[in-house]
Amino acid sequence: MQTCACVSLSGGQGKTTVIFNLSLLLAQQGKKVLAVDCDPQANLTFYLNHEVEPNQPTLLEVLNGKVQTEDGIYSTTHENLFLMPSDRSLFKVSEYLASSGTGAFILKLRLKAVQNLFDLVLIDVQPSRSQICLTAVGAADYALIPVEAATKGVNSLIDTLEFLEEQASVMAFNGKVLGIIPFRDRWVGLTQTLESRENIATIKEFAGDIPVLPSIRESEQFKRAIRQGKLLSDIGQKDLQYPFEKMIEVLTNER
Ligand SMILES: Nc1ncnc2c1ncn2[C@@H]1O[C@H](COP(=O)(O)OP(=O)(O)O)[C@@H](O)[C@H]1O
Ligand SMILES: [Mg+2]
Repeated sequence: MQTCACVSLSGGQGKTTVIFNLSLLLAQQGKKVLAVDCDPQANLTFYLNHEVEPNQPTLLEVLNGKVQTEDGIYSTTHENLFLMPSDRSLFKVSEYLASSGTGAFILKLRLKAVQNLFDLVLIDVQPSRSQICLTAVGAADYALIPVEAATKGVNSLIDTLEFLEEQASVMAFNGKVLGIIPFRDRWVGLTQTLESRENIATIKEFAGDIPVLPSIRESEQFKRAIRQGKLLSDIGQKDLQYPFEKMIEVLTNER
């Protein structure tokens, strides 16, 4: 089982978009995938069309040990793709994680119980330095960092790299950063906009030795695909799917 988290410390950087597309694509390729929604905004849960019923356990109950890990996992409408959902109440776990003393390792520990059931665990991480974020990052063997090809994205990259370094220095992140993915790269016809070009150049400067992977183009088709719960290739937009195929290639090469 490989565990990969999508981390970027600002909203709107493409984290949930990446996890959604990677999950569907890997599942379609026959891999057993568990998507974990580690963000109380719960967009991933919503995108995967899961409604949390009042008495159903979610990531919250798995983390605080009220239920077994398997009991917080649900099938989705996609073959091979399973979800550990969340809703707004996930914030309640912060106190438990903070008081446990080993909060950063709790998700990793809980996932151990299901390691033989899945090939890949993909984690959508809350964009703040919260206890939830710490435990999500602590569980990751690999991290992907999507950042908008804009000033906000450059700042998110700087914050995220600093945060991961801090966590690594206290051994609370023991993973490898596989790559940075520029998000909403804008082109007009065959020409990349100046803003995108300049911001991606800046992203490359801050990336250092970390690979900057193929960018995700700015396009309404992504929202359309998500709305229909489909892959871009399933709505006739296979070209736009290339960055996700590349991420899978990089992940696969790690095995
Ligand atoms: N390629 C794209 N071009 C433009 N907008 C996009 C694209 N992909 C996703 N979006 C939209 O951008 C917003 C932010 O993406 P999201 O993945 O939710 O970011 P995060 O999870 O980092 O907050 C969402 O409203 C999403 O629908
Ligand atoms: Mg999100």
